[in-house]
Amino acid sequence: MTGLKNLEKGFTIWLTGPSGAGKTTLAVKLAKRLREMGYRVEILDGDTIRKTLYPDLGFSKEAREMHNRVVIHMAKLLSRNGVIAIVSLISPYRAVREYARKEIGDFIEVYVYAPLEVRIQRDPKGLYAKALRGEIKGLTGYDGVYEEPENPEVTVDSSKMTPEEEVEAVIAKAREMGYLP
Ligand code: PPS
Ligand code: MG
Repeated sequence: MTGLKNLEKGFTIWLTGPSGAGKTTLAVKLAKRLREMGYRVEILDGDTIRKTLYPDLGFSKEAREMHNRVVIHMAKLLSRNGVIAIVSLISPYRAVREYARKEIGDFIEVYVYAPLEVRIQRDPKGLYAKALRGEIKGLTGYDGVYEEPENPEVTVDSSKMTPEEEVEAVIAKAREMGYLP
């Protein structure tokens, strides 16, 4: 493919947040924008990777940690080869995200936030409805653990910002950090 710009170094945009906060939506918009700018981009979406590699894995702490480590490794391989890796992964544990930051190195942590009422209203997969009826347990953002980021590079509130505004906030931070010209 011609017309691609080569970044000296790739980097990882790590989108963390509870189910239904808007990680996948932002990942897709960001990828589109960065591809239009001429960069190589790959989306690593937790939900998709689970369905492809291990649909029966489940959501125990051990399962999530193992799966998150797989995604960290993928992002590391991509970003050290000039690709912008966009990770959309609940990644509920702070220690795992800190490990990702250390392993990958060139890293922008984005906390994708939306209040519980908004996530319940959106509920695109009906998971909150199930959790409210007690049919599932441990939904992240309802009765499952989510350790909020303490010092994310960017926080976006998808109940107050448009996806386009979120994209701009992330790109501005990538420029400020020297990852993009
Ligand atoms: S994690 O915690 O990092 O392993 O999560 P992730 O790989 O991103 O997968 C999250 C998607 O799995 C679906 N799902 C659940 N999420 C959280 N908790 C429970 N109990 C659960 N059960 C199913 C859901 O579709 C998540 O996708 P998103 O896009 O985050 O809503
Ligand atoms: Mg998603």
